[in-house]
Amino acid sequence: MATIAVLSQKGGTGKTTTVRTLTDVFRRVGLSVLAVDLDPQGNLSDYLDVDPEATPTIGDVLADRATLSEAIHADVVPASLNLAEAELALGGKIGRELTLKRALRSVRDRYDLVLIDCPPSLGLLTVNALVAADWALLSAEAQYFAMQGVEQATGVIELAREALNPDLALLGVILNIADMRTRHSREAFASLRTHFGEKLLDTTVRASIAYAESAERAQSIIDYRPDLGVDYLNIADELLRRLTLPGARARLADLAAEIAS
Ligand SMILES: Nc1ncnc2c1ncn2[C@@H]1O[C@H](COP(=O)(O)OP(=O)(O)OP(=O)(O)O)[C@@H](O)[C@H]1O
Ligand SMILES: [Mg+2]
Repeated sequence: MATIAVLSQKGGTGKTTTVRTLTDVFRRVGLSVLAVDLDPQGNLSDYLDVDPEATPTIGDVLADRATLSEAIHADVVPASLNLAEAELALGGKIGRELTLKRALRSVRDRYDLVLIDCPPSLGLLTVNALVAADWALLSAEAQYFAMQGVEQATGVIELAREALNPDLALLGVILNIADMRTRHSREAFASLRTHFGEKLLDTTVRASIAYAESAERAQSIIDYRPDLGVDYLNIADELLRRLTLPGARARLADLAAEIAS
């Protein structure tokens, strides 16, 4: 099992859309994927169409009221506002950074991949995700001050690695919600390339209003607008190469051909 935490330093960089869409793509190529919503806003749970009344949730797990297995609803661990409370309660506990890692241990054998959607801050919840993860995947939005925030996020990854999770590695950096026709996006891409080298994915996720529309319908962009969804197929391919899940890349090529036809 490989665990990937998707994070960014700020809100609205497309993290949840990335987790939602990659969950869908990886499932379609036959991988078993657990999607974990670690944001009290519960957007991932909405996008993946989990019943808003479903309990227990990740907040109950972190507060020791439920096991992780109990909080899995159709391969999604949803979040609700009680996660904010759980985060506060967690703050006073010994081993508070290790809680999610411990909880995930019990499901190790059941999944090929665990994708964790982090909240838009670099607090205790994101640290829990980074401690539980093998990989960190950074989402950076194409805007002028993108670099500044990205540096904060890499700083937190570095801290998690040094203090608590020496095996944590950077899986990649995605330039998200980009319009490469603008100089501004091209400059953001160039500065990320300088800073991250090959860790920056070659594929950028194009900006389109279709994402908001597809979210409203709880539909994957792959189905709603396959012409745009191809960005995520290419991202999935780049990630699978790094994750060394061999058979999955061939099946992804088949899926891409099927969607294109
Ligand atoms: N490629 C895209 N182009 C345009 N809009 C997008 C794209 N990806 C996501 N969005 C939209 O941008 C908004 C924020 O996306 P999303 O919720 O995925 O970001 P986030 O980083 O998870 O936000 P938060 O930090 O609040 O959790 C949503 O309305 C979403 O539909
Ligand atoms: Mg989000």
